[in-house]
This record gives sequence, C-alpha cells and structure tokens, in this order.
Amino acid sequence: MSEKILITGGAGFIGSYICRKLIELNHMPIVYDSFVQYISPFDSLYQTYLTERFLGIKDKIIFERGDTRDKSNVRRVISKHKPDRIIHLAALPIADLSNTHSEEALSSILQGAVNVLEIARDVDFIKRVVYTSSSMIYGDFQYTPADEEHPKKPKDIYGGTKYAGEILVETFGRRYGIKYTIIRPSAVYGPTDVNRRVSQIFVENAILGKTLTLHRGGDNVLDFTFVEDTADGFVKATFSDNAVNQIFNITRGEGRTLKEFVDILKTIIPNIKTIETEGDLFRPKRGALDISKARKLLGYEPKYSLEQGLKKYVEFVLKKFEEGKLK
Ligand SMILES: NC(=O)c1ccc[n+]([C@@H]2O[C@H](COP(=O)([O-])OP(=O)(O)OC[C@H]3O[C@@H](n4cnc5c(N)ncnc54)[C@H](O)[C@@H]3O)[C@@H](O)[C@H]2O)c1
Repeated sequence: MSEKILITGGAGFIGSYICRKLIELNHMPIVYDSFVQYISPFDSLYQTYLTERFLGIKDKIIFERGDTRDKSNVRRVISKHKPDRIIHLAALPIADLSNTHSEEALSSILQGAVNVLEIARDVDFIKRVVYTSSSMIYGDFQYTPADEEHPKKPKDIYGGTKYAGEILVETFGRRYGIKYTIIRPSAVYGPTDVNRRVSQIFVENAILGKTLTLHRGGDNVLDFTFVEDTADGFVKATFSDNAVNQIFNITRGEGRTLKEFVDILKTIIPNIKTIETEGDLFRPKRGALDISKARKLLGYEPKYSLEQGLKKYVEFVLKKFEEGKLK
C-alpha cells in the first residue's frame, strides 16, 4: 500500500536516493529540509548536484523548506501532511565540522531529533521513526567486523551527539511507545555528494590531475558503501516489521584501506599522483562493520563492491568535468 513518508534532510545526498527508491515503490516522499551547505558556496557544487539529485523525480515529491530546530514548523508540516513514517536524516553530517561547530552539531543532531520525537509522540498516525546514527559512535574499533553490540566510545562531538540521539530515541520508544529503527551507515560515497569527504576529494582531485594525500601510506580502513545500497537498506528497515525497535549497521560490510581505494582509482584514471603525510591521530581507527543482522532480519544485500561503485561514481564525475561543471 502506498504510504506518505516524511524525510527530514531529504534534499541531501543519502536522502535524495531514498526519495528515488520510495517513488519506485509507489510511495509519496515529503522532503523537509533547510537546504544548508557545509562547504563554502564559492567552492561548492551544491546547486549543480541538488538539481542532479532530483532529475526526473522533482515533481513527484512535496518539498517543505524548514529546519528541524524550528519545532513549531516541524509540527505544522507533520499536521499538514500526516505522514505514515518519518525517516530522520537532517543533521550536521560532517565529523570534523562537529568539533569546530559544536553548538550547531548539538542543536542540529540532538535537538532536531528530540523535536521530531516529541511531535511523533503527540500524534497517532506515525507508524515508525527511523533515526540516522553513524558508525562513528563506536570510536576506535576494538574488533572487526564491528557488530551492533560493539562498545560505544565516540571520539568526536559528531559521534557523541549521534549516540546521545540513539539513547533518546530508545528512551522515547520505552516511555511513549513510539516505534523506531536506528540505522548506522558508514563512509557513504557516490554521485552528488558535495560534503567533501575523502571519497569525493580523491575522485575529484584525481580527475583534475591534483596530487592525492595519503596519511600514513593510506592505512586507514573504512567500510565504503555505495549510496544506492545505503538507500536500499534505509527503505527496507523503514517498512520491515522485523526492524521495529531495532538497530542496524547498514554498510557494504567490508573494510578497505585508502591505499586500496586509490589503487582502484588508478585502474580507472591513469597517472594519479600521491604523496604521503603524517595522519590525524584523533581520527578513530575503524574497519568493517558486521551487517549479518540486517542481512538476516531485513534481507539487506549490498550490490556494489568498491570496484563497481567507484566505476559508477567516477563516470558521473568525469561527465561533470567534461560539461565544465567541475573546475
Ligand atoms: N554520508 C555518510 O557517509 C554518512 C555516514 C553516516 C551517517 N550519515 C548521516 O546521514 C545523514 C545524511 O547525510 P548526507 O551524507 O546525506 O548529508 P547531506 O549534507 O548531503 O544531507 C543532509 C541534509 O540535511 C539537511 N539538514 C541539515 N540540518 C538540517 C536541519 N537542522 N533541519 C533541516 N534540514 C537539515 C541539509 O540541508 C541536507 O540536505 C546525516 O544524518 C549524516 O550524519 C552520513
């Protein structure tokens, strides 16, 4: 049956792929977004990629501009559209920025989530609230693959507030009977990311002929996940009865070093130059996440290896370069 799904942060990178999937499944996405850019507007591809994200689907989505910190506006939009479910993605999404912009991180990640939960408590039509956490809540991985029970020792304001949000989601669930699902994605990459995470920086710099910087020889391990797989996991978890009041790692489920990432890039783009520097010692040491729970309970099966996902991503960025959009 077709449902109305409110997606906070739905105009963003992951949110736009979730919208596309929901439309494929005949659901009606309602995007609630403040359209914020985190990178200097002088350097950003934000406008170009925002248009790309919604090519062919813009007219099938209701867009509501607003901030999740503006509780009365969130309440107005929820009362107006009466969504069946909420996928809550809106948050300051960059760990490094959370340390310098800690008040913004706190209000955007935590207050925004509490506002959504309070409104979900006050109405009787919302069947599920899906909260977006992060693998950054684990801090340094003590073992890999890290399952959902792995100790939580976040090392950034970002991971700390995301984890605090998880605790409050569970608390609202226990106290008010709100049905929830918590998702922990990791290192999502693919077409239209504009937040200049490592995958975007490496792909764009390689295409522009700039040198790529590898910290400590690129020994950092990440569970790179192609954005279409992330979106598929979100949608499965949003609707599955098995996901009620559950937490899921939604990733590729494989640890790959940055050196491996660059080696794959070199097979697609020749003559990539690299230099090595000291690493950031505060960055958590990470690796593969265990996705067996999502496989078992949701039937989640990521389709893209890093090789396949990167090929698709590079093709997209190369096209933007040829169109003169990437300079
Ligand atoms: N991309 C990743 O690798 C990754 C990994 C783990 C978790 N996450 C989480 O997934 C979510 C989406 O991340 P993304 O990569 O798509 O980032 P994004 O920046 O592309 O999307 C975030 C969207 O949320 C909106 N937004 C931010 N704060 C808001 C607020 N207070 N009110 C309303 N809208 C607001 C922004 O305008 C943007 O459209 C975030 O919660 C992020 O922390 C992302």
